[in-house]
Amino acid sequence: MHLKTFVVFKGVKRGMKTLVIASERSLDFGRKIARKLHKPFSKLLTKHFPDGELYLRYPIPLKGAHVILVDSMQPNPDDALVELLFGTASARAHGAKKVTLVIPYMGFLRQDKEFHPGETVSNKIVADLLSRADRIVTMDPHLHRISSLKQIFKTKTKTLTANDILAQHLKAKHKGALVVGPDGESFQWARSVASKAGLHAIVLNKKRYTSEKVRILVKSDVPLKGRDIVIVDDIISTGHTMIEPIKQFKRMKVKSITCIGIHGVFAMNALQKLKKLGSKVECTNTIQNPVSIIDVTDAFVEALR
Ligand code: R5P
Repeated sequence: MHLKTFVVFKGVKRGMKTLVIASERSLDFGRKIARKLHKPFSKLLTKHFPDGELYLRYPIPLKGAHVILVDSMQPNPDDALVELLFGTASARAHGAKKVTLVIPYMGFLRQDKEFHPGETVSNKIVADLLSRADRIVTMDPHLHRISSLKQIFKTKTKTLTANDILAQHLKAKHKGALVVGPDGESFQWARSVASKAGLHAIVLNKKRYTSEKVRILVKSDVPLKGRDIVIVDDIISTGHTMIEPIKQFKRMKVKSITCIGIHGVFAMNALQKLKKLGSKVECTNTIQNPVSIIDVTDAFVEALR
């Protein structure tokens, strides 16, 4: 564990001091935010005791400060949740005046209903627990049966979207591509991002049977042979929502396929599976991974100023 990670940047404003502190899984993201805000940055020190329990320590004094704790909820979402809860309570115990949680990828939102009797509706429980913070800033949370985080959180929330940044990315790197939303829910990203980028979009229909089994039928109002295809979705988890149409696009002899996810979770070797099918994969950096090449920190900085 390194204690020399507390770096002071120039330009710290007078008044309540603001400290940006990031967990191991969000170090790059946190550093970028701190640098752009001209605030001090440090790493949240965590480890597990021999019995598996979480140990968490702030390596700097927090008294009177506004603590911005950056912790995305992937990988290891259960650990991240406990870190966020301990982090919030511990910051207060050490005298922080205000605690803002920056959660670039908010987990636990897809279990938003009791699909089978006795199941836990995770999104409400997690929202309730995290509401101990003063403010929560996140990006494109998976909202299906609710329309806003404000319906489940008891604290202030700021929901950002990557749409403008994705549109700029498509304009710069995927000129002339056909944008594909793999299911009805992706309509909101695919259509809006495509129209901002001046590209045509089609949206497919998906039926999900289990976490790993989905059925998607590719239907298009424009010819697909020889086209560059960009499939856009909010989350790439097991990758099956992308894999199903990729297989059909390949049979239709498209020129190239790129999968773009706002949040690259890549459970169960999804990234390797997508690459093996010959698809390029690009994600934002809400989750740190080898393909998180689209930087969305500017949107967070704007919201935190
Ligand atoms: C669900 O409706 C989401 O928008 C994504 O399509 C889904 O989470 C992707 O999951 P997977 O990669 O496991 O198919």
